[in-house]
Amino acid sequence: MSDPIAIESVLNETRVFPPSQEFSANAHIKSFEEYEKLYAEAEADPEGFWAKQAESLDWFKKWDTVLEWNEPFAKWFVGGTLNVSYNCLDRHLTTWRRNKAAIIWEGEPGEQRTLTYQQLYAEVCKFANVLKGQNVKKGDRVALYMPMVPELAIAMLACARIGATHTVIFGGFSADAIADRVNDGKVKLIVTADGGYRRGAEVTLKNTIDNALPNCPNVEAVIVFKRTGTKINMSSGRDHWWHELMAAAETECPAEELDSEHPLYILYTSGTTGKPKGILHTTGGYLTQTAYTTKMVFDLRDEDIYWCTADIGWVTGHSYVVYGPLANGATVLMYEGAPNYPDYDRFWDIIERHRVNILYTAPTAIRVFIRWGESHVLKHDISSLRLLGTVGEPINPEAWMWYHHVIGKGKCPIVDTWWQTETGAIMISPLPGATPTVPGTATRPLPGILLDIVSKSGEPAGDNEGGYLVAKHPWPSMLRTVYGDDERYKKTYWSEIPNRYFAGDGARRDERGYYWIMGRVDDVINVSGHRLGTAEVESALVSHEAVAEAAAVGRPDEVKGQAISVFVTLEGGRKGDEALKNELRAHVAKEIGALAKPDDIRFTDALPKTRSGKIMRRLLREVAAGADVAGDVTTLEDLSVLEKLRDDED
Ligand code: WTA
Repeated sequence: MSDPIAIESVLNETRVFPPSQEFSANAHIKSFEEYEKLYAEAEADPEGFWAKQAESLDWFKKWDTVLEWNEPFAKWFVGGTLNVSYNCLDRHLTTWRRNKAAIIWEGEPGEQRTLTYQQLYAEVCKFANVLKGQNVKKGDRVALYMPMVPELAIAMLACARIGATHTVIFGGFSADAIADRVNDGKVKLIVTADGGYRRGAEVTLKNTIDNALPNCPNVEAVIVFKRTGTKINMSSGRDHWWHELMAAAETECPAEELDSEHPLYILYTSGTTGKPKGILHTTGGYLTQTAYTTKMVFDLRDEDIYWCTADIGWVTGHSYVVYGPLANGATVLMYEGAPNYPDYDRFWDIIERHRVNILYTAPTAIRVFIRWGESHVLKHDISSLRLLGTVGEPINPEAWMWYHHVIGKGKCPIVDTWWQTETGAIMISPLPGATPTVPGTATRPLPGILLDIVSKSGEPAGDNEGGYLVAKHPWPSMLRTVYGDDERYKKTYWSEIPNRYFAGDGARRDERGYYWIMGRVDDVINVSGHRLGTAEVESALVSHEAVAEAAAVGRPDEVKGQAISVFVTLEGGRKGDEALKNELRAHVAKEIGALAKPDDIRFTDALPKTRSGKIMRRLLREVAAGADVAGDVTTLEDLSVLEKLRDDED
């Protein structure tokens, strides 16, 4: 490689966990040979492969052309028509699944509701009629700002049913963040709730909407679902109660026949600079890949209780709480609240009571569970679990091992799934009956997904050489553009590396062909000309028994270019001191090499995170550099964390 990005990879993990024979024997894909054969076939003919997967959906009219590629603009299943809501609901009603639980919901205070496919269908039809009654038409945008209640899924499916494009805004966003998204999307109607529950407290959603609305001139109406019963302001003419409109709504609403490229949703994701990007996903390709990956990656069976803990406000909730599982006729568990309410064992209690079989969560959650201690897990019988998954960031091997032993009891395959809001669906993941897993790697791309690791000029990297992770061929669930901004789409994703989709992540591929994600390339630290992935430094720190969580960032250094600054939270109750700092430095030196030895170590009670759990390294970089923290902090979960970090500066 002549022009390597040269992110030096220092993580050296050798433990290998093949799937058990028993798991493989019953899996959809039963061996690594079978995966490799499938992969090779799909690589030779990606269009043919995806067309075959698209056939498992119900189409009103079959497509004429599988892929129309006008770089960087893709159209999949051109000329075909279908409806996502029809595929998630109607088609199950003619089978035994009509009385199967579609959603089993648990509220944070403890209420439980189950909606069968038939019941969900009726609610969705009614709400689709409610939207029509509010003058929402095919192509209009509807914003959903709701707690994790079934009505959020109902509203999404109702939009999809009539061809309105939804944009879900995570329930933790502020009025300003809402107004930005609503205006960028030219949203006509907002669906919200009076409030929701989080860690025993009420989140007052409608009040926040009221604060956003003076800045949202295009919004004509607001529909309010009553969740908490708190007193709210209802502006007459504009605001309507969900239950009142539903009581008067017809129970049948035919699913609109939509073009395969009809916009299904916009989801905003923050970039490193500037206003949030509206990632646009469409219909046929999106559903094809989400449905296929849900079935194969989670090895989904009809009798499974499947629980993805993501909030629907994030892409994981769109693809793997709602669309992928429901398209497969799965039973989805949905939980409204926090993992530590009323106590630290809530998740394990839920798993025990509902006999959950598949758990899909995030590394950040796993590290929090480790910190809380395994005693909370051991109180419960979680033996129903048969498969575990993670998404959102690289999972450090220590967290992987804990997940494997303490939650999986050594018997559950772990699928570490790499993908992005932009990719719409999983791209790299083990297939649980086929792929031997190694802690810390998402392993291989899925069949039909063509990736590479390249230098800045686009040359392929050799084994174990770090580089940029790119896609070589369009995939069905890829973003179609940045809403209203084709130029930004081109610039962000298609101009960095010639003729390749650039994911923004650094990665390396080992001699097995496994992909190791090294974090965002803007999270790379350059020490004395060596570029280190922050994930690897963090992983080394977390492998020390005293450390619960760690974030590493670079700060300017006259001599080395950048120095390594780390922020560390300690295992329950431990106090940090100089001796421990020295021990950690020595530990990192031992794990990675002297090069990666942190220059500064700060102990902190918590790390600043986005509401989806990603560490906000940009803020930490600013703190580390001793600068004032500027710029957008609207996605920060807890502002006080930042205050404390600043106070603690030495
Ligand atoms: C990171 C979440 C390593 C990565 C679905 C990506 C991961 C970004 C993994 C997208 C994984 C996600 N291993 N890194 N298994 N999964 N990432 O848009 O940096 O919230 O680019 O989508 O998260 O985050 P997003």
